[in-house]
Amino acid sequence: MTDDIYSLAYISKNTIAGDQDVINAQIENILMTAQSNNPAKGITGALLYSGGYFCQVIEGPEEALEDLFETIQMDSRHAECTILHFEPIEEKGFSGWSMAFAGIDDNMRFDIDGIKASKDELAMKSAGKDLVNVLDELVSQRQSVST
Ligand SMILES: Cc1cc2nc3c(=O)[nH]c(=O)nc-3n(C[C@H](O)[C@H](O)[C@H](O)COP(=O)(O)O)c2cc1C
Repeated sequence: MTDDIYSLAYISKNTIAGDQDVINAQIENILMTAQSNNPAKGITGALLYSGGYFCQVIEGPEEALEDLFETIQMDSRHAECTILHFEPIEEKGFSGWSMAFAGIDDNMRFDIDGIKASKDELAMKSAGKDLVNVLDELVSQRQSVST
Protein backbone atom coordinates (compact mmCIF):
# COMPACT_ATOMS: atom_id res chain seq x y z
CA MET A 1 0.00 0.00 0.00
CA THR A 2 1.30 3.41 -0.88
CA ASP A 3 -0.18 5.14 2.14
CA ASP A 4 1.60 2.97 4.69
CA ILE A 5 3.35 4.85 7.45
CA TYR A 6 6.99 4.07 8.12
CA SER A 7 9.32 4.80 10.99
CA LEU A 8 13.02 5.52 10.53
CA ALA A 9 15.32 5.67 13.56
CA TYR A 10 18.98 6.62 13.29
CA ILE A 11 21.89 7.78 15.37
CA SER A 12 24.66 10.07 14.13
CA LYS A 13 27.72 11.78 15.50
CA ASN A 14 27.71 15.50 16.04
CA THR A 15 30.31 17.35 13.96
CA ILE A 16 29.40 20.89 15.03
CA ALA A 17 32.56 22.49 16.32
CA GLY A 18 32.24 24.78 19.30
CA ASP A 19 30.98 24.83 22.84
CA GLN A 20 27.55 23.75 24.04
CA ASP A 21 26.09 27.20 23.25
CA VAL A 22 27.09 26.86 19.62
CA ILE A 23 25.65 23.35 19.49
CA ASN A 24 22.43 24.49 21.20
CA ALA A 25 21.97 27.25 18.63
CA GLN A 26 22.33 24.71 15.82
CA ILE A 27 19.88 22.32 17.48
CA GLU A 28 17.44 25.20 17.71
CA ASN A 29 17.99 25.87 14.02
CA ILE A 30 17.48 22.19 13.10
CA LEU A 31 14.23 22.08 15.10
CA MET A 32 12.91 25.25 13.48
CA THR A 33 13.69 23.88 10.02
CA ALA A 34 12.09 20.54 10.84
CA GLN A 35 9.02 22.16 12.33
CA SER A 36 8.57 24.33 9.27
CA ASN A 37 9.26 21.61 6.64
CA ASN A 38 7.85 18.40 8.10
CA PRO A 39 4.10 19.12 8.36
CA ALA A 40 3.64 19.54 4.58
CA LYS A 41 5.28 16.14 4.08
CA GLY A 42 3.17 14.37 6.68
CA ILE A 43 6.30 13.75 8.75
CA THR A 44 6.43 13.72 12.54
CA GLY A 45 9.18 12.70 14.93
CA ALA A 46 11.46 13.41 17.83
CA LEU A 47 15.08 14.40 18.30
CA LEU A 48 17.46 13.87 21.19
CA TYR A 49 21.01 15.14 21.59
CA SER A 50 22.86 12.76 23.79
CA GLY A 51 26.56 12.52 24.60
CA GLY A 52 27.66 14.02 21.29
CA TYR A 53 25.20 12.00 19.24
CA PHE A 54 21.97 12.91 17.53
CA CYS A 55 19.22 10.34 17.98
CA GLN A 56 16.20 10.91 15.77
CA VAL A 57 13.01 9.13 14.84
CA ILE A 58 11.11 10.33 11.81
CA GLU A 59 7.81 8.82 10.72
CA GLY A 60 5.56 9.32 7.73
CA PRO A 61 4.93 8.13 4.15
CA GLU A 62 7.78 5.94 2.83
CA GLU A 63 8.91 8.17 -0.04
CA ALA A 64 8.76 11.36 1.98
CA LEU A 65 10.87 9.70 4.66
CA GLU A 66 13.44 8.46 2.17
CA ASP A 67 13.72 11.92 0.62
CA LEU A 68 14.06 13.63 3.97
CA PHE A 69 16.62 11.15 5.21
CA GLU A 70 18.70 11.71 2.04
CA THR A 71 18.76 15.42 2.89
CA ILE A 72 19.46 14.90 6.58
CA GLN A 73 22.28 12.48 5.82
CA MET A 74 24.07 15.10 3.71
CA ASP A 75 23.92 17.67 6.49
CA SER A 76 27.44 18.63 7.54
CA ARG A 77 26.39 19.15 11.16
CA HIS A 78 26.63 15.40 11.72
CA ALA A 79 28.27 12.28 10.28
CA GLU A 80 28.12 8.50 10.39
CA CYS A 81 24.33 8.27 10.25
CA THR A 82 23.48 4.74 11.30
CA ILE A 83 19.96 3.53 10.62
CA LEU A 84 18.59 1.42 13.46
CA HIS A 85 15.32 0.64 11.74
CA PHE A 86 13.25 1.60 8.74
CA GLU A 87 9.97 -0.25 8.95
CA PRO A 88 6.22 0.09 8.53
CA ILE A 89 4.33 0.96 11.70
CA GLU A 90 0.68 0.63 12.68
CA GLU A 91 0.43 4.15 13.98
CA LYS A 92 2.66 7.10 14.59
CA GLY A 93 4.37 7.36 17.96
CA PHE A 94 4.84 11.12 17.69
CA SER A 95 1.71 12.26 15.91
CA GLY A 96 1.10 15.88 16.73
CA TRP A 97 4.83 16.64 16.76
CA SER A 98 6.36 17.97 13.54
CA MET A 99 9.60 17.46 15.47
CA ALA A 100 9.51 17.05 19.22
CA PHE A 101 12.65 17.86 21.16
CA ALA A 102 13.50 15.26 23.75
CA GLY A 103 16.33 17.30 25.22
CA ILE A 104 20.05 17.41 25.68
CA ASP A 105 21.66 14.83 27.77
CA ASP A 106 25.36 14.49 28.58
CA ASN A 107 25.50 10.74 28.70
CA MET A 108 25.04 8.65 25.63
CA ARG A 109 22.20 6.28 26.29
CA PHE A 110 23.12 3.74 23.67
CA ASP A 111 26.23 1.75 23.01
CA ILE A 112 26.16 2.84 19.40
CA ASP A 113 29.77 1.91 18.68
CA GLY A 114 29.11 -1.57 20.02
CA ILE A 115 25.96 -1.90 17.95
CA LYS A 116 27.69 -0.65 14.82
CA ALA A 117 30.66 -2.94 15.33
CA SER A 118 28.45 -5.98 15.77
CA LYS A 119 26.53 -5.20 12.55
CA ASP A 120 23.80 -7.23 14.17
CA GLU A 121 20.45 -6.42 12.65
CA LEU A 122 18.53 -7.62 15.69
CA ALA A 123 20.66 -5.49 18.01
CA MET A 124 20.01 -2.51 15.72
CA LYS A 125 16.28 -3.10 15.71
CA SER A 126 16.26 -3.52 19.45
CA ALA A 127 18.21 -0.27 19.88
CA GLY A 128 15.71 1.39 17.53
CA LYS A 129 12.84 0.23 19.70
CA ASP A 130 14.65 1.44 22.84
CA LEU A 131 15.22 4.78 21.16
CA VAL A 132 11.53 5.20 20.32
CA ASN A 133 10.64 4.38 23.94
CA VAL A 134 13.25 6.72 25.41
CA LEU A 135 12.18 9.56 23.09
CA ASP A 136 8.55 8.96 23.93
CA GLU A 137 9.28 9.06 27.66
CA LEU A 138 11.46 12.17 27.45
CA VAL A 139 9.01 14.03 25.23
CA SER A 140 6.11 13.36 27.58
CA GLN A 141 8.19 14.39 30.61
CA ARG A 142 9.09 17.68 28.96
CA GLN A 143 5.51 18.20 27.95
CA SER A 144 4.26 17.77 31.50
CA VAL A 145 6.92 20.18 32.75
CA SER A 146 6.05 22.88 30.23
CA THR A 147 2.29 22.78 30.74
C1 LIG B 1 20.23 15.78 13.30
C2 LIG B 1 19.48 16.51 12.23
C3 LIG B 1 18.10 16.34 12.12
C4 LIG B 1 17.38 17.01 11.11
N1 LIG B 1 16.03 16.80 11.01
C5 LIG B 1 15.34 17.44 10.03
C6 LIG B 1 13.94 17.23 9.88
O1 LIG B 1 13.29 16.46 10.60
N2 LIG B 1 13.31 17.92 8.89
C7 LIG B 1 13.96 18.79 8.06
O2 LIG B 1 13.32 19.38 7.17
N3 LIG B 1 15.27 19.01 8.20
C8 LIG B 1 15.98 18.36 9.16
N4 LIG B 1 17.33 18.59 9.29
C9 LIG B 1 17.95 19.62 8.44
C10 LIG B 1 18.28 19.10 7.04
O3 LIG B 1 19.49 18.40 7.07
C11 LIG B 1 18.38 20.28 6.06
O4 LIG B 1 19.31 21.22 6.54
C12 LIG B 1 17.05 20.97 5.88
O5 LIG B 1 16.03 20.04 5.63
C13 LIG B 1 17.11 21.97 4.71
O6 LIG B 1 15.86 22.62 4.71
P1 LIG B 1 15.66 23.99 3.93
O7 LIG B 1 15.89 23.63 2.48
O8 LIG B 1 14.24 24.38 4.23
O9 LIG B 1 16.68 24.94 4.49
C14 LIG B 1 18.05 17.90 10.26
C15 LIG B 1 19.45 18.06 10.38
C16 LIG B 1 20.15 17.39 11.35
C17 LIG B 1 21.64 17.59 11.47
